[in-house]
Amino acid sequence: MDSQSDGIRVLVVDDEPGMREGCRRILIAEGYAVETAEDGMAGLELFQQQRNFAAALVDLKMPRLSGVELVEALRALDSDVLLLVITAYATIETAVEATKRGAYGYIPKPFTPEELLMPLRHGLERRQLAIETRQLREERERRLLEVAFERSKAKTIINCMTDGVLVTNREKQVVLRNVVAARLLPALANSPLPVSLGAVGLPALTDLLVSAIQPGSTPSIASREITIGESTFMVNVSPVTEGAGEMQGAVAVLRDITALKKLEVAKSMFVSLVAHEVKRPLAAIESNLKVVLGGYTRDPDKQRHMIERALERSKGLLTLVTELRSLSTMEAGRYALNRVPMDLVPLAADAVESAKEKAAEKQMTLSFENKVAGTVPRVMADAEAMKSVFGNLLDNAVKYTPDGRRAGLRVARDGLFLRFTVWDEGIGMSAEELSHVFEEFYRAQNEFTSRVPGTGLGLSLAKRLVEIHQGEVTIDSTPGKGSCFAVSLPIVE
Ligand SMILES: Nc1ncnc2c1ncn2[C@@H]1O[C@H](COP(=O)(O)OP(=O)(O)OP(=O)(O)O)[C@@H](O)[C@H]1O
Ligand SMILES: [Mg+2]
Repeated sequence: MDSQSDGIRVLVVDDEPGMREGCRRILIAEGYAVETAEDGMAGLELFQQQRNFAAALVDLKMPRLSGVELVEALRALDSDVLLLVITAYATIETAVEATKRGAYGYIPKPFTPEELLMPLRHGLERRQLAIETRQLREERERRLLEVAFERSKAKTIINCMTDGVLVTNREKQVVLRNVVAARLLPALANSPLPVSLGAVGLPALTDLLVSAIQPGSTPSIASREITIGESTFMVNVSPVTEGAGEMQGAVAVLRDITALKKLEVAKSMFVSLVAHEVKRPLAAIESNLKVVLGGYTRDPDKQRHMIERALERSKGLLTLVTELRSLSTMEAGRYALNRVPMDLVPLAADAVESAKEKAAEKQMTLSFENKVAGTVPRVMADAEAMKSVFGNLLDNAVKYTPDGRRAGLRVARDGLFLRFTVWDEGIGMSAEELSHVFEEFYRAQNEFTSRVPGTGLGLSLAKRLVEIHQGEVTIDSTPGKGSCFAVSLPIVE
């Protein structure tokens, strides 16, 4: 028994019972599974019901539905089924007609078992081959589709990255880059890929990539800081291997660390400034105490004066520390404010009262004016924070104004805002000085200010507090004439 034909289903359609039976026996002896039908119509119905026939032997001349018509119908139902025509009238025309309609070949009657089995075997082999070829093709198409999809997915992903990505092959050519990389390296944006690494025009990056694709280089990630224009990038380069570690190329990821770098610089500058600001008063306190304790002055008035100076400097230090703490909590967004709708006029008037003592020491007059007509509109404010803002501005107005002159605070309405203006007839500021006043630790350097104590934190603190209140601070100042600091806060509806 031919094991290859085991169970293969064959349909025999012939109106001659003897013929049908003869075929059936030959085929069954070979291991085929056989069904028979007594005419074209019955054959078609059987095929439609069962469908899983590999082959059909069809008599050409049958009532109801002719062999040629059946061939055509079966081919339409199943593009793979092997169709063989059995005919007593083997003419060229009928053969051509049958093959045109989808038959593989024909077997002339009468035939020996071998004359039946040979074309059947060949036809089935061919059918099998055709099916396998088609499956392979379909599989390949599906794979190609998958690859294309994977590729476009990978492309989408790398283009979404905020870091620059570029990939090179073994031939030192850039074969892939994302949008960010193209923006950073114009050579990559302007020419189609692949682009030679040399043309990218960034030797530091080229070196990293070339050493990553060097044969025998160990698979590791190399990192280096690289500057492109004004920006600094942390570049990580890693070889790309495939299968058994075969080198395919290298990938570079460029991360912009410019902001981080600036922050680092700012942080270390801030720390050294603080150290400097702390050291000065500490040194002064130490030397004053040493003079007194070392007995270098016996005059009790002088001794007292030196201790008072030391106390003053230590108070200054305390203010510095307090302001630094406020600044850092504000920076971390942890500054706890309790803002409620309130009338700020009494609070501003109190701030002026508190500053009067210091002003009196300099024979200065401090005034307070409320220019708001009718009831004062309320603003959302934190009382402590606003006390600190007015305190800082009034402190400056007194500090930076020569003895005997005037300063004050004025409240007025300005559209949807309530404006508090702290003015003075003081030394004023140049445009250059004005551009720095809100910077931490900034102090104008001149004859006058060198004799005035201060840390340069007051205004930066005040500005931030006002900004938390959705307000703003503006300055109008003329050197030698005076300054106006205006704090505007939005009025509550
Ligand atoms: N009303 C003013 N008139 C002239 N210059 C001023 C006035 N207010 C501030 N300045 C200048 O701006 C600088 C910064 O002021 P800021 O209040 O931040 O610091 P400070 O007064 O020096 O120290 P503190 O931290 O004790 O307030 C001052 O050193 C001074 O040079
Ligand atoms: Mg100040």
